[in-house]
Amino acid sequence: MFEYLPVAPPDSIFGLSDAFARDIRPEKINLTVGVYKDEQGRTPILATVKKAEESLLKSETSKGYMPVEGHPEYLKAVVNLIFGKTIDTARVAAAQTPGGTGALRVGADTVIRHFPGTRIWLSNPTWANHGSIFQAVGMETPIYPYLTPDKTSLDFSAMMQELTSQGRRGDLVCLHACCHNPTGIDPTLEQWQEISELLASKQMIPFVDFAYQGFGDGLEADVLPLNALLEKNHEVIVCNSFSKNFGLYSERVGSVSLVSKDASTTEAALSQLRLAVRCNYSNPPRHGAATVSAILNDSSLRKEWVEEVDAMRSRISKMRSMFIDGMKATDIDRDFSFLSRQKGMFSYSGLNSMQADWLKNERGIYIVGTGRINVAGMAASTMPTLCSAIAECIRATT
Ligand code: LMR
Repeated sequence: MFEYLPVAPPDSIFGLSDAFARDIRPEKINLTVGVYKDEQGRTPILATVKKAEESLLKSETSKGYMPVEGHPEYLKAVVNLIFGKTIDTARVAAAQTPGGTGALRVGADTVIRHFPGTRIWLSNPTWANHGSIFQAVGMETPIYPYLTPDKTSLDFSAMMQELTSQGRRGDLVCLHACCHNPTGIDPTLEQWQEISELLASKQMIPFVDFAYQGFGDGLEADVLPLNALLEKNHEVIVCNSFSKNFGLYSERVGSVSLVSKDASTTEAALSQLRLAVRCNYSNPPRHGAATVSAILNDSSLRKEWVEEVDAMRSRISKMRSMFIDGMKATDIDRDFSFLSRQKGMFSYSGLNSMQADWLKNERGIYIVGTGRINVAGMAASTMPTLCSAIAECIRATT
Protein backbone atom coordinates (compact mmCIF):
# COMPACT_ATOMS: atom_id res chain seq x y z
CA MET A 1 0.00 0.00 0.00
CA PHE A 2 2.53 2.57 1.08
CA GLU A 3 4.69 2.23 -2.00
CA TYR A 4 1.90 4.04 -3.89
CA LEU A 5 1.99 7.06 -1.59
CA PRO A 6 3.21 10.27 -3.20
CA VAL A 7 5.42 12.61 -1.19
CA ALA A 8 3.25 15.40 0.23
CA PRO A 9 4.47 18.98 -0.27
CA PRO A 10 6.11 20.63 2.77
CA ASP A 11 3.81 22.71 5.00
CA SER A 12 3.81 26.34 3.85
CA ILE A 13 4.74 27.54 7.37
CA PHE A 14 6.40 24.69 9.29
CA GLY A 15 8.21 23.50 6.14
CA LEU A 16 10.06 26.83 6.05
CA SER A 17 10.97 26.53 9.72
CA ASP A 18 12.47 23.11 8.98
CA ALA A 19 14.46 24.61 6.12
CA PHE A 20 15.60 27.39 8.47
CA ALA A 21 16.82 24.83 11.02
CA ARG A 22 18.92 23.17 8.30
CA ASP A 23 20.41 26.50 7.11
CA ILE A 24 24.00 26.80 8.40
CA ARG A 25 24.44 30.54 7.78
CA PRO A 26 25.06 32.19 11.17
CA GLU A 27 23.32 35.47 10.25
CA LYS A 28 20.05 33.72 9.27
CA ILE A 29 16.76 35.22 10.52
CA ASN A 30 13.47 33.30 10.93
CA LEU A 31 10.31 35.38 10.44
CA THR A 32 8.08 32.47 9.47
CA VAL A 33 6.13 30.55 12.10
CA GLY A 34 4.03 32.59 14.53
CA VAL A 35 6.09 32.19 17.65
CA TYR A 36 7.02 35.02 20.02
CA LYS A 37 10.72 35.63 20.49
CA ASP A 38 12.59 37.91 22.86
CA GLU A 39 15.45 40.23 21.93
CA GLN A 40 17.88 37.29 22.18
CA GLY A 41 15.81 35.24 19.74
CA ARG A 42 14.53 32.84 22.41
CA THR A 43 10.93 31.73 22.84
CA PRO A 44 10.82 32.13 26.61
CA ILE A 45 8.81 30.15 29.15
CA LEU A 46 6.80 32.79 31.01
CA ALA A 47 7.81 33.33 34.65
CA THR A 48 4.22 32.67 35.73
CA VAL A 49 4.21 29.38 33.82
CA LYS A 50 7.40 28.27 35.60
CA LYS A 51 5.88 29.18 38.97
CA ALA A 52 2.64 27.34 38.24
CA GLU A 53 4.56 24.29 37.01
CA GLU A 54 6.69 24.22 40.16
CA SER A 55 3.61 24.18 42.34
CA LEU A 56 1.93 21.55 40.11
CA LEU A 57 4.97 19.33 40.43
CA LYS A 58 4.53 19.39 44.18
CA SER A 59 0.75 19.16 44.37
CA GLU A 60 -0.16 16.80 41.52
CA THR A 61 -1.07 13.35 42.81
CA SER A 62 -2.38 11.52 39.74
CA LYS A 63 -1.97 11.23 36.00
CA GLY A 64 -5.37 9.58 35.61
CA TYR A 65 -7.57 10.53 32.65
CA MET A 66 -9.30 13.85 32.58
CA PRO A 67 -13.01 14.25 31.82
CA VAL A 68 -13.63 14.02 28.06
CA GLU A 69 -14.41 17.75 27.89
CA GLY A 70 -11.28 18.64 29.84
CA HIS A 71 -9.97 20.13 33.06
CA PRO A 72 -12.97 21.54 34.97
CA GLU A 73 -11.26 24.53 36.65
CA TYR A 74 -9.45 25.38 33.44
CA LEU A 75 -12.72 25.42 31.52
CA LYS A 76 -14.42 27.63 34.09
CA ALA A 77 -11.51 30.09 33.99
CA VAL A 78 -11.44 30.15 30.19
CA VAL A 79 -15.16 30.76 29.87
CA ASN A 80 -14.89 33.57 32.41
CA LEU A 81 -11.90 35.10 30.68
CA ILE A 82 -13.62 35.19 27.30
CA PHE A 83 -17.31 35.62 28.11
CA GLY A 84 -17.46 36.50 31.80
CA LYS A 85 -18.11 40.22 31.35
CA THR A 86 -20.62 39.93 28.52
CA ILE A 87 -23.07 37.06 28.65
CA ASP A 88 -24.55 34.55 31.04
CA THR A 89 -21.83 31.88 31.02
CA ALA A 90 -24.49 29.19 31.50
CA ARG A 91 -25.10 29.63 27.74
CA VAL A 92 -21.58 28.39 26.97
CA ALA A 93 -20.66 24.74 26.39
CA ALA A 94 -16.87 24.49 26.36
CA ALA A 95 -14.38 21.71 25.78
CA GLN A 96 -10.63 21.80 26.24
CA THR A 97 -8.76 21.00 23.02
CA PRO A 98 -5.17 20.44 21.90
CA GLY A 99 -4.47 24.03 20.84
CA GLY A 100 -6.56 26.27 18.62
CA THR A 101 -6.24 23.79 15.75
CA GLY A 102 -7.88 21.11 17.88
CA ALA A 103 -10.63 23.60 18.74
CA LEU A 104 -11.33 24.36 15.08
CA ARG A 105 -11.48 20.66 14.27
CA VAL A 106 -13.73 19.70 17.20
CA GLY A 107 -16.03 22.66 16.48
CA ALA A 108 -16.24 21.79 12.79
CA ASP A 109 -16.77 18.07 13.51
CA THR A 110 -19.62 18.90 15.88
CA VAL A 111 -21.42 21.06 13.33
CA ILE A 112 -20.99 18.80 10.31
CA ARG A 113 -22.17 15.68 12.16
CA HIS A 114 -25.64 17.22 12.52
CA PHE A 115 -25.72 19.65 9.63
CA PRO A 116 -24.12 17.94 6.63
CA GLY A 117 -23.48 20.33 3.79
CA THR A 118 -22.62 23.23 6.11
CA ARG A 119 -20.27 25.71 4.45
CA ILE A 120 -17.74 27.95 6.15
CA TRP A 121 -16.66 31.29 4.70
CA LEU A 122 -12.95 32.04 4.93
CA SER A 123 -11.28 35.39 4.40
CA ASN A 124 -8.94 35.75 1.45
CA PRO A 125 -6.25 35.41 2.67
CA THR A 126 -6.58 33.44 5.87
CA TRP A 127 -4.36 31.25 8.05
CA ALA A 128 -2.81 28.63 5.78
CA ASN A 129 -4.29 25.75 7.79
CA HIS A 130 -7.93 26.90 7.91
CA GLY A 131 -8.90 25.49 4.50
CA SER A 132 -7.34 22.08 5.22
CA ILE A 133 -9.02 21.73 8.62
CA PHE A 134 -12.52 22.52 7.39
CA GLN A 135 -12.15 20.59 4.15
CA ALA A 136 -10.97 17.57 6.16
CA VAL A 137 -14.40 17.37 7.81
CA GLY A 138 -16.11 17.75 4.44
CA MET A 139 -17.08 21.40 4.61
CA GLU A 140 -17.12 23.60 1.56
CA THR A 141 -14.96 26.67 2.08
CA PRO A 142 -16.14 29.64 -0.01
CA ILE A 143 -13.97 32.73 0.40
CA TYR A 144 -14.84 36.36 1.01
CA PRO A 145 -12.57 39.21 -0.11
CA TYR A 146 -10.58 40.85 2.67
CA LEU A 147 -7.89 43.11 1.25
CA THR A 148 -7.71 46.11 -1.03
CA PRO A 149 -5.72 45.44 -4.23
CA ASP A 150 -2.55 46.97 -2.74
CA LYS A 151 -2.93 44.49 0.19
CA THR A 152 -2.33 47.14 2.82
CA SER A 153 -5.85 47.60 4.18
CA LEU A 154 -9.22 45.97 4.63
CA ASP A 155 -11.66 46.08 1.73
CA PHE A 156 -14.64 46.19 4.05
CA SER A 157 -17.26 46.95 1.43
CA ALA A 158 -16.12 44.06 -0.80
CA MET A 159 -16.21 41.72 2.20
CA MET A 160 -19.70 42.81 3.21
CA GLN A 161 -21.00 42.75 -0.32
CA GLU A 162 -19.86 39.17 -0.91
CA LEU A 163 -21.29 37.89 2.38
CA THR A 164 -24.53 39.78 1.74
CA SER A 165 -25.04 38.53 -1.79
CA GLN A 166 -23.65 34.98 -1.51
CA GLY A 167 -24.09 34.05 2.16
CA ARG A 168 -26.86 31.60 3.05
CA ARG A 169 -28.77 30.91 6.24
CA GLY A 170 -26.81 28.36 8.29
CA ASP A 171 -23.43 29.18 6.74
CA LEU A 172 -20.56 29.58 9.19
CA VAL A 173 -18.29 32.60 8.80
CA CYS A 174 -14.74 32.24 10.05
CA LEU A 175 -13.58 35.51 11.61
CA HIS A 176 -10.30 36.28 13.36
CA ALA A 177 -11.23 38.02 16.62
CA CYS A 178 -8.02 40.07 16.60
CA CYS A 179 -4.59 40.13 14.96
CA HIS A 180 -5.78 38.66 11.65
CA ASN A 181 -3.44 35.92 10.49
CA PRO A 182 -1.69 36.41 8.04
CA THR A 183 -2.26 40.14 7.47
CA GLY A 184 -2.42 41.81 10.90
CA ILE A 185 -5.31 43.87 9.44
CA ASP A 186 -8.42 43.92 11.65
CA PRO A 187 -11.84 45.55 11.16
CA THR A 188 -12.57 48.58 13.36
CA LEU A 189 -15.07 48.21 16.20
CA GLU A 190 -17.74 49.97 14.12
CA GLN A 191 -17.08 47.54 11.30
CA TRP A 192 -17.38 44.62 13.74
CA GLN A 193 -20.81 45.93 14.69
CA GLU A 194 -21.82 45.97 11.04
CA ILE A 195 -20.49 42.43 10.55
CA SER A 196 -22.44 41.35 13.61
CA GLU A 197 -25.67 42.86 12.27
CA LEU A 198 -25.20 41.35 8.85
CA LEU A 199 -24.59 37.82 10.15
CA ALA A 200 -27.53 38.05 12.54
CA SER A 201 -29.85 39.31 9.81
CA LYS A 202 -28.82 36.52 7.44
CA GLN A 203 -28.76 33.88 10.20
CA MET A 204 -25.16 33.01 9.45
CA ILE A 205 -23.09 31.84 12.42
CA PRO A 206 -19.84 33.50 13.50
CA PHE A 207 -17.06 30.92 13.87
CA VAL A 208 -14.41 32.90 15.66
CA ASP A 209 -10.73 32.01 15.70
CA PHE A 210 -9.32 33.69 18.82
CA ALA A 211 -5.64 32.77 18.88
CA TYR A 212 -4.01 36.06 19.83
CA GLN A 213 -5.93 37.51 22.77
CA GLY A 214 -3.72 40.16 24.36
CA PHE A 215 -1.48 40.68 21.33
CA GLY A 216 -3.71 43.30 19.65
CA ASP A 217 -4.76 46.04 22.08
CA GLY A 218 -4.75 44.10 25.36
CA LEU A 219 -6.45 41.12 27.00
CA GLU A 220 -9.68 42.98 27.68
CA ALA A 221 -9.76 45.20 24.60
CA ASP A 222 -9.25 42.20 22.31
CA VAL A 223 -12.55 40.69 23.46
CA LEU A 224 -14.54 43.71 22.21
CA PRO A 225 -15.01 42.42 18.62
CA LEU A 226 -16.34 39.17 20.05
CA ASN A 227 -18.68 41.11 22.32
CA ALA A 228 -19.98 42.97 19.28
CA LEU A 229 -20.77 39.62 17.65
CA LEU A 230 -22.45 38.31 20.81
CA GLU A 231 -24.61 41.40 21.06
CA LYS A 232 -26.58 40.58 17.91
CA ASN A 233 -25.98 36.86 17.33
CA HIS A 234 -27.64 34.26 19.53
CA GLU A 235 -25.25 31.53 18.52
CA VAL A 236 -21.49 31.89 18.20
CA ILE A 237 -18.63 29.38 18.06
CA VAL A 238 -15.33 30.48 19.57
CA CYS A 239 -12.03 28.63 19.22
CA ASN A 240 -9.29 29.97 21.43
CA SER A 241 -5.66 29.12 21.88
CA PHE A 242 -3.20 29.78 24.70
CA SER A 243 -0.16 28.98 22.56
CA LYS A 244 0.77 32.62 22.13
CA ASN A 245 -0.43 34.51 25.19
CA PHE A 246 0.88 31.87 27.62
CA GLY A 247 3.81 30.83 25.40
CA LEU A 248 2.54 27.25 25.75
CA TYR A 249 2.96 26.34 22.09
CA SER A 250 4.08 22.74 22.54
CA GLU A 251 1.71 22.00 25.42
CA ARG A 252 -1.25 22.41 23.02
CA VAL A 253 -3.76 24.29 25.14
CA GLY A 254 -6.97 25.64 23.69
CA SER A 255 -10.72 25.27 23.84
CA VAL A 256 -13.85 25.40 21.77
CA SER A 257 -16.97 27.12 23.07
CA LEU A 258 -20.45 26.81 21.66
CA VAL A 259 -22.58 29.75 22.75
CA SER A 260 -26.29 28.92 22.58
CA LYS A 261 -29.31 31.21 22.66
CA ASP A 262 -30.07 30.21 26.23
CA ALA A 263 -28.84 27.81 28.89
CA SER A 264 -31.39 25.13 28.02
CA THR A 265 -29.27 24.02 25.03
CA THR A 266 -25.93 23.92 26.82
CA GLU A 267 -26.13 20.34 28.02
CA ALA A 268 -26.91 19.00 24.53
CA ALA A 269 -24.15 21.16 23.02
CA LEU A 270 -21.63 19.90 25.57
CA SER A 271 -22.63 16.28 24.97
CA GLN A 272 -21.97 16.76 21.24
CA LEU A 273 -18.57 18.32 21.90
CA ARG A 274 -17.76 15.29 24.06
CA LEU A 275 -18.68 12.96 21.18
CA ALA A 276 -16.39 14.83 18.80
CA VAL A 277 -13.52 14.76 21.30
CA ARG A 278 -13.97 11.09 22.14
CA CYS A 279 -13.59 9.92 18.55
CA ASN A 280 -10.69 12.27 17.85
CA TYR A 281 -8.32 11.93 20.81
CA SER A 282 -10.54 10.56 23.58
CA ASN A 283 -9.71 13.17 26.19
CA PRO A 284 -7.29 16.08 26.32
CA PRO A 285 -3.80 16.34 27.85
CA ARG A 286 -3.63 17.64 31.40
CA HIS A 287 -0.42 19.58 31.88
CA GLY A 288 -0.93 22.75 29.82
CA ALA A 289 -4.51 23.21 30.98
CA ALA A 290 -3.54 22.63 34.61
CA THR A 291 -0.84 25.28 34.20
CA VAL A 292 -3.21 27.85 32.68
CA SER A 293 -5.80 27.07 35.33
CA ALA A 294 -3.26 27.56 38.13
CA ILE A 295 -2.41 31.01 36.75
CA LEU A 296 -5.89 32.25 35.90
CA ASN A 297 -7.31 31.06 39.23
CA ASP A 298 -4.65 32.74 41.38
CA SER A 299 -5.06 36.52 41.63
CA SER A 300 -1.39 37.33 42.05
CA LEU A 301 -0.16 34.98 39.30
CA ARG A 302 -2.92 36.25 37.04
CA LYS A 303 -1.86 39.86 37.57
CA GLU A 304 1.74 38.96 36.81
CA TRP A 305 0.64 37.08 33.68
CA VAL A 306 -1.30 40.13 32.42
CA GLU A 307 1.94 42.12 32.76
CA GLU A 308 3.85 39.46 30.86
CA VAL A 309 1.34 39.57 28.00
CA ASP A 310 1.52 43.38 27.99
CA ALA A 311 5.32 43.19 27.79
CA MET A 312 5.19 40.81 24.79
CA ARG A 313 2.73 43.09 23.03
CA SER A 314 4.89 46.17 23.68
CA ARG A 315 7.99 44.48 22.33
CA ILE A 316 6.17 43.49 19.15
CA SER A 317 4.89 47.00 18.65
CA LYS A 318 8.40 48.41 19.24
CA MET A 319 9.78 46.04 16.59
CA ARG A 320 7.07 47.17 14.19
CA SER A 321 8.11 50.84 14.58
CA MET A 322 11.81 50.03 14.41
CA PHE A 323 11.24 48.12 11.19
CA ILE A 324 9.27 50.99 9.64
CA ASP A 325 12.01 53.47 10.64
CA GLY A 326 14.70 51.07 9.47
CA MET A 327 13.11 50.79 6.03
CA LYS A 328 12.68 54.57 5.86
CA ALA A 329 16.41 54.97 6.44
CA THR A 330 17.27 52.83 3.39
CA ASP A 331 17.38 54.33 -0.11
CA ILE A 332 14.32 52.35 -1.18
CA ASP A 333 11.39 54.44 -2.30
CA ARG A 334 8.72 52.37 -0.58
CA ASP A 335 6.67 53.44 2.40
CA PHE A 336 6.22 50.71 4.99
CA SER A 337 4.25 52.91 7.43
CA PHE A 338 1.07 50.87 6.75
CA LEU A 339 2.60 48.27 9.07
CA SER A 340 1.84 50.57 12.00
CA ARG A 341 -1.90 50.03 11.42
CA GLN A 342 -1.52 46.24 11.57
CA LYS A 343 -1.80 44.35 14.84
CA GLY A 344 -0.35 41.29 16.50
CA MET A 345 2.50 39.08 15.47
CA PHE A 346 2.00 39.22 11.75
CA SER A 347 2.28 41.73 8.97
CA TYR A 348 1.70 41.51 5.31
CA SER A 349 4.89 43.13 4.09
CA GLY A 350 3.87 43.56 0.45
CA LEU A 351 6.81 41.35 -0.59
CA ASN A 352 5.95 38.64 -3.11
CA SER A 353 6.90 34.98 -3.28
CA MET A 354 9.82 35.65 -5.63
CA GLN A 355 11.16 38.17 -3.11
CA ALA A 356 10.63 35.69 -0.26
CA ASP A 357 12.73 33.20 -2.24
CA TRP A 358 15.40 35.83 -2.90
CA LEU A 359 15.64 36.67 0.80
CA LYS A 360 15.93 33.03 1.74
CA ASN A 361 18.45 32.08 -0.93
CA GLU A 362 20.62 35.20 -0.89
CA ARG A 363 20.45 36.27 2.76
CA GLY A 364 19.14 33.41 4.89
CA ILE A 365 16.07 35.50 5.82
CA TYR A 366 12.94 33.36 5.97
CA ILE A 367 9.46 34.83 5.47
CA VAL A 368 6.29 33.05 4.30
CA GLY A 369 5.82 33.07 0.50
CA THR A 370 2.71 35.25 0.75
CA GLY A 371 4.84 38.07 2.17
CA ARG A 372 3.73 37.41 5.75
CA ILE A 373 6.39 38.31 8.27
CA ASN A 374 6.41 37.42 11.95
CA VAL A 375 7.22 40.77 13.55
CA ALA A 376 7.67 38.99 16.89
CA GLY A 377 10.74 37.29 15.40
CA MET A 378 12.53 40.62 14.82
CA ALA A 379 15.21 41.95 17.16
CA ALA A 380 16.85 45.38 17.54
CA SER A 381 20.27 43.82 17.08
CA THR A 382 19.43 42.27 13.70
CA MET A 383 17.14 45.06 12.43
CA PRO A 384 19.83 46.82 10.32
CA THR A 385 20.75 43.52 8.62
CA LEU A 386 17.08 42.77 7.97
CA CYS A 387 16.22 46.21 6.56
CA SER A 388 19.25 46.41 4.29
CA ALA A 389 18.57 42.89 2.99
CA ILE A 390 14.95 43.78 2.19
CA ALA A 391 16.07 46.99 0.49
CA GLU A 392 18.58 45.07 -1.61
CA CYS A 393 15.94 42.45 -2.41
CA ILE A 394 13.51 45.09 -3.66
CA ARG A 395 16.28 46.67 -5.78
CA ALA A 396 17.27 43.30 -7.24
CA THR A 397 13.75 42.15 -8.05
CA THR A 398 11.89 45.23 -9.31
C1 LMR B 1 1.31 30.48 12.37
O1 LMR B 1 0.40 30.87 11.65
O2 LMR B 1 2.51 30.62 12.08
C2 LMR B 1 0.99 29.81 13.68
O3 LMR B 1 -0.35 29.92 13.97
C3 LMR B 1 1.52 28.44 13.77
C4 LMR B 1 0.80 27.48 12.90
O4 LMR B 1 0.30 26.49 13.44
O5 LMR B 1 0.73 27.68 11.69
